[in-house]
Amino acid sequence: MNSKAEQLLQWYDDHHRFFPWRVTPSERARGVLADPYRVWLSEIMLQQTTVEAVKPYFQAFVTRWPTVRALAAATDDDVMRAWAGLGYYSRARNLKKCAEIVAGELNGEFPSAIEGLKALPGIGDYTAAAIVAIAFDQPAAVVDGNIERVITRLFAISTPLPAAKPEIRAKVLTIAPNDRPGDFAQAMMDLGAMICTPRRPACVLCPVNDDCRVLHEGDPELFPVKAPK
Ligand code: ADE
Repeated sequence: MNSKAEQLLQWYDDHHRFFPWRVTPSERARGVLADPYRVWLSEIMLQQTTVEAVKPYFQAFVTRWPTVRALAAATDDDVMRAWAGLGYYSRARNLKKCAEIVAGELNGEFPSAIEGLKALPGIGDYTAAAIVAIAFDQPAAVVDGNIERVITRLFAISTPLPAAKPEIRAKVLTIAPNDRPGDFAQAMMDLGAMICTPRRPACVLCPVNDDCRVLHEGDPELFPVKAPK
């Protein structure tokens, strides 16, 4: 494994955040597998909503509809009512449609590859990659806003966003390990949320500060570079 991935995973083992949709590193080490239904549901809820706001909705959904088949069998009305307050209601409509396809046409099983996932309603590049990495533990270019910030700083990518996106995805794939790709994706998310923050990043606490080009050459707060409006 490359040293950046190794250091990030070591840091994640000690400092990871706990969420009801996650399998912890020690659970994974004991062979506990993430449930693709829970990973998918959480990723859809987290698309435009903060983790704190998502937590109670996620718990309510998985308690009431513990499987994708159960969700598919719910009425549209019940699902929309349970979603009320999370906003961006097209997400809830696509959620229900996606559940019906997975339950009705895919034997209740989510596809494990990017293309199969992206064919489903509500699943785009980011969500497909997150499900592949976190639920199926396969390397994938998981890049959200937090990870864009981490990667542009680590590699001093000065191309402005959104033009930098392909470069960022390529860099993520150079460091994503074959071992523990799900934990690696979540480690990157946690690093971006807790250490590599937009303002006043805690670089002294960062597990990859030795390797961070922007820290050595410039000012992390100036990355990612945004295209002028
Ligand atoms: N935001 C999107 N996906 C997430 C995850 N799996 N954990 C924490 N925050 C997230």
